[in-house]
Amino acid sequence: MIQQETPPFYNDLDATRDHALALIARGVKDRKSGMHTFTVATIGPDGAPRLRTVVNRGFDPQTRTLRFHTDARSPKLDELASDQRAAVHLYDPKAKTQLRLDALATVHRDSDVRQAAWDATRDFSRECYRVVPTPGDAVEAPSTIAFTSGEDPEEGAENFVAVTLQMQTLEWLYLAHQGHRRARFSWDSIGEVSQTWLVP
Ligand SMILES: Cc1cc2nc3c(=O)[nH]c(=O)nc-3n(C[C@H](O)[C@H](O)[C@H](O)COP(=O)(O)O)c2cc1C
Repeated sequence: MIQQETPPFYNDLDATRDHALALIARGVKDRKSGMHTFTVATIGPDGAPRLRTVVNRGFDPQTRTLRFHTDARSPKLDELASDQRAAVHLYDPKAKTQLRLDALATVHRDSDVRQAAWDATRDFSRECYRVVPTPGDAVEAPSTIAFTSGEDPEEGAENFVAVTLQMQTLEWLYLAHQGHRRARFSWDSIGEVSQTWLVP
């Protein structure tokens, strides 16, 4: 039987934190990483949770901020306007690591963050922002859904927003034959971290 090697962070909280943040960062570039996408939960208008998968478009480890892109008309933005609290779930099966974050969301409708994100978005990805009716609305048949022509590469820009999610707490779980490891990290308003091991 192949023994899983004990990783350097196994009994080290600081190294665990660095490793967790590095996994999120890798997910941005590495499409094969389990953290190339993540699940975002918001609070619906009825108070019930709402979940969806999004693509991990950017991560700044200094400010612990993740970024995803979405349609300006999407219901999740109304939910975040009512309550900016979000939860994020990431799981990388190869790294045997689950991350659960509490985050505060900021919607960038008209900022440098949004512009830089749009400029870096390829034409293929821009296509979905050219849909004429509102995402999530009911339609008679999919074939009736109109898109603008896309002749101008700027078409759809008005429907494009970036959302950043600043991590407030991170709960890390690592699965290992030698014994699972679990830890929680919380940051205060000036970015000071408190950290503790948890019972897995
Ligand atoms: C693999 C995958 C990646 C997705 N990436 C995004 C994304 O980056 N942004 C986005 O708005 N929706 C993305 N979606 C669609 C969302 O999961 C969701 O269906 C859509 O955004 C509508 O959500 P809402 O009605 O809660 O606003 C993705 C779905 C899948 C399956």
